[in-house]
Amino acid sequence: MTSAHKVRKAVIPAAGLGTRFLPATKAMPKEMLPVVDKPAIQYVVQEAVSVGLTDILMVTGRSKRALEDHFDRVPSLEATLEDKGDTAKLKAVQAATDLGDIHYVRQGDPKGLGHAVLRAKQHVGEEPFAVLLGDDLIDDRDQLLSVMIDVQAKTSGSVIALIEVEPSQISAYGCADIEEVEGEDYVRVRKLVEKPSPEEAPSNLAVIGRYVLHHSVFDVLEETEPGRGGEIQLTDALQTLAAAEGEGSGVYGVVFRGRRYDTGDKLSYLKAVVQLACASEDLGPDLRKWLTSFAAELDS
Ligand code: G1P
Repeated sequence: MTSAHKVRKAVIPAAGLGTRFLPATKAMPKEMLPVVDKPAIQYVVQEAVSVGLTDILMVTGRSKRALEDHFDRVPSLEATLEDKGDTAKLKAVQAATDLGDIHYVRQGDPKGLGHAVLRAKQHVGEEPFAVLLGDDLIDDRDQLLSVMIDVQAKTSGSVIALIEVEPSQISAYGCADIEEVEGEDYVRVRKLVEKPSPEEAPSNLAVIGRYVLHHSVFDVLEETEPGRGGEIQLTDALQTLAAAEGEGSGVYGVVFRGRRYDTGDKLSYLKAVVQLACASEDLGPDLRKWLTSFAAELDS
C-alpha cells in the first residue's frame, strides 16, 4: 500500500437542522447537545482521531460558531483553571482543542447527506476518506472504523458499516443486500436501498453512520438525482458504485456487533446518555445504584 492510499481524512456532516430536538436546538446545533459531559460531536471527532484521522473536515450549516468555538482554545479560561490549580478541568477543556486539524465548509442548501459529502470533494482530493455521522456514537471499547479502514485497503472499494435490526426498524435506515466473501470477515454489498418499508427491504442489515469511501463517490454524487425525501442520498451513490465495475467500484460491508448509541431522536438520545453515564468511571457507580432503586419504584 502506498502512502497515497492511506486513509487520513475524516468528513463529519454537521449541518442538520436538529428539528427532532426543538426547542433545545433553536439556537444551538444538535451536535452540541451534551452526552454525559461533552457534546456529541466531540465523541465523533475523538473516534476519528483515535484511528489516526487527524485531518477533519466538518460540513456545517447554521450555528457553526458554537462548533468552531468548542474545538478552539480559550486562553483566558485555561489561565483561570491553571491559576486555581484545577488540572482535571484544565485537561477536560484542552481535550477538545488538541484533536488535530479541523477544517470547516458550509453545506449551503440542505440538499441531503449525499450533497453534504460532495462538499468535501475539494478538501479530500483523490484519496480514500472516512465519513462519520454524529447521530451514531460507537463505544470506544469496541473497534469499527479501524476494521473498515483495513477492509478499504484490501478491497480498494468503499466500505459501509452494518448492524442487524428488527425488521420493523429497517425503514429508519439504508438497507443492504449482501453476499459472503469466502474466507473474509467482511461482506460484499449487492444492493442498497434508502429507508425501505419492511416489505421492500432486502434484509435486516441497516447502514449506520460510518463509511470509508473511495473518492470516486464524488463523481457519482455529482450525477446522483434527488432520491428519497427529495434529497441527494449517499446510499443511492453507493448503490451505483456497488453495481459498477472498474477502478473505485465495489461496496463492502463490515457487520458491527459492538456497542452503538443512537443520539438521533429524543428517546434514543436519553437512552444513550444513561448507558454512557452508567459506563463512566466517576458517575457510573452512583448512577447505577440510583437507577436500580428508581426502576424498582417504577415497577411498584
Ligand atoms: C442516514 C443515511 C442512512 C443511514 C443513517 C444512519 O440517514 O441516509 O442510510 O442508515 O444515516 O444513521 P439519516 O439518519 O441521516 O436520515
